[in-house]
Amino acid sequence: MNSELFVLLRDALVQHGDGLRVACSLGVEDMIVVHEIARAAASVGGRPRVFLLDTGRLPEESHTLLDAAKQKYAIDIEVHLPDAIAVERLVRRQGANGFYDSVQARRACCEARKLGPLARALEGATAWVTGLRREQSPTRSDLPVSEIDDRGLIKLAPLAHWTTEQVWAFAKEHQVLIHALHSRGYTSIGCAPCTRATKPDEPLRAGRWWWEAPEHKECGLHSRSVS
Ligand code: ADX
Ligand code: SF4
Repeated sequence: MNSELFVLLRDALVQHGDGLRVACSLGVEDMIVVHEIARAAASVGGRPRVFLLDTGRLPEESHTLLDAAKQKYAIDIEVHLPDAIAVERLVRRQGANGFYDSVQARRACCEARKLGPLARALEGATAWVTGLRREQSPTRSDLPVSEIDDRGLIKLAPLAHWTTEQVWAFAKEHQVLIHALHSRGYTSIGCAPCTRATKPDEPLRAGRWWWEAPEHKECGLHSRSVS
């Protein structure tokens, strides 16, 4: 039987075709979406437009999983790199690891390395899918499954209401390809210098920008949540 997730993704593919994009950070939620959209595309004959924002600071394990996912799911994953000049300016201004110094410097790095590429990844899009969930953070607690974002695009978060237990049960049952860092205590997958493993009693995103206050832990990709 097809899951509710499968049906939502299949309908979105049929409705938006080439205008539908899937933002995949390679974390478990996104791998579940990729797993299901690959099946949905096979059933309706479409080609899913999945993209990875390669900030240039991703952990080695992300690159390994990227290649494995393309092969297992027989899909292309479009990799968007930051603009070289924008990164050069950033590094000259604040150093390669200047993001540790202030929230402002960290946001400048996310802006150059993630937001610039995101704009390119969404060119020509009418809708996009993320793996965002309400449980991930207080800033996401009221996240709808479907909304119109600041760009005027339909933004779908089909796992918005899923619990962590549901996520892992689905991944296990369907043998979804999983990022190697999850088994080393990482509950969220991001850039290598800005992400660490979490302890069992810590919030899911405690390992992201761990030196910052919780209300700052957004990179700007999901602007409704930025405090
Ligand atoms: S975020 O602050 O980095 O955006 P998180 O890692 O929880 O937060 O990601 C939330 C969603 O944003 C992911 O499910 C995915 O849809 C999208 N996303 C985050 N990082 C990337 C990335 N590097 N490439 C593509 N999509 C991403
Ligand atoms: Fe830069 Fe860290 Fe943001 Fe990655 S997560 S873009 S390294 S500040």
